[in-house]
Amino acid sequence: MSRVLVLGAGAIGQWLGGLLACSGAETLLLARPPHLEVLSSRGLQVEGSPGGFPVRAVASLEDLTPDERRCDWLVLAVKTFAVEAALAEARQAGLNPTRVLAIQNGLGTDDQVAACFGKARTFVGSVTRAVACPAPGVVRPASRGGLALAPMARGEHPGDLPARLAAHRVPVALLADAAAMKWSKLLLNMVANASCAILDLSCRQLLVDRDLFRVELQALREALQVMERRGLVVVDLPGYPVRLLARAVRWLPEALAFHLLGPSMASGRGDKPPSLLLDLRAGRAMTEVAWMNGAIALEATRLDLDAPVNRFLAQTLTALARGDLAQGTFRHDPGSFLERLATASSPGQGKAGGGRRSSGP
Ligand SMILES: NC(=O)c1ccc[n+]([C@@H]2O[C@H](COP(=O)([O-])OP(=O)(O)OC[C@H]3O[C@@H](n4cnc5c(N)ncnc54)[C@H](OP(=O)(O)O)[C@@H]3O)[C@@H](O)[C@H]2O)c1
Repeated sequence: MSRVLVLGAGAIGQWLGGLLACSGAETLLLARPPHLEVLSSRGLQVEGSPGGFPVRAVASLEDLTPDERRCDWLVLAVKTFAVEAALAEARQAGLNPTRVLAIQNGLGTDDQVAACFGKARTFVGSVTRAVACPAPGVVRPASRGGLALAPMARGEHPGDLPARLAAHRVPVALLADAAAMKWSKLLLNMVANASCAILDLSCRQLLVDRDLFRVELQALREALQVMERRGLVVVDLPGYPVRLLARAVRWLPEALAFHLLGPSMASGRGDKPPSLLLDLRAGRAMTEVAWMNGAIALEATRLDLDAPVNRFLAQTLTALARGDLAQGTFRHDPGSFLERLATASSPGQGKAGGGRRSSGP
């Protein structure tokens, strides 16, 4: 690998770009303000690592030379809702990468990337390391987790990318089935994410509430049902025994799951607040919930199943982000949230959530 172009210099784009730059690849980051100015003037800082990382920030793909547009890897590191526009820019600029890595959480964007660059060039990545961006041009990676990687076209090989990351103590798992990997990652992402955003609660606050924990369990069980119907097998991801989580979610009685799973789910996130809560607090009109809980609900419908909890979470959070529901409608108010969920769930399927059964935290 000699050249990497990272499209989207946020938390993950800077972290991966920094690691690949350290491994000796010429690394270009397509960056926006305020990261752009800091990366251009001072370089990239990774907390805990001395010195700056040798990346070059560019403001526009049009600034690249024809040679630079032919990179070995294009890393697409924008959020799901920005993928379409980013791909249009890439097409417009005539980017011609040998391989593309799409690292978005949630479902659906891999097909967009494959449609743009071809399945044979497209690799799907699931990043299990939480990376925060405490200041422009600064990233703070957690110590747990790594990267799982799967080709969109079976049998394609990612060259020396895994070895380059592994050399910097990032565990990389090469998997065969991209869909199974993405759904397994979604099981991790959906825990205490949309509900925390809607209620403006931390994971720990949410998961010590028995009724709110039940909602998480129901949402996970809906996702597992869809996976089962699709014949997708849950896989472990670097740092996260997802198969064990899935077994516990499926088989543990709720009371036992609450005591055994709740604390480990809360600690699994580390100190980083849930991504959907961060998006909502940042005042974004778009969040990734449609590609997470919303995608589960859609897939359930397509398969003649129902996923009322995921549908409710996606619809409610989308309405809050767009301003169709007033910000703060459910802030610190599990009672109203549970009532609304019970009403919104399909009567034919039994009420999801079921209102308040126990006293709150
Ligand atoms: N952070 C994590 O811990 C983590 C872990 C696993 C997976 N992921 C997934 O990785 C993806 C990226 O997450 P992130 O946390 O790195 O997001 P992020 O910090 O918001 O970074 C995305 C960056 O891309 C920029 N961008 C968007 N469209 C662009 C375009 N057309 N051209 C250039 N730059 C563009 C954004 O700028 P603006 O802010 O100006 O829009 C932002 O700086 C998400 O799907 C997320 O779910 C994140």
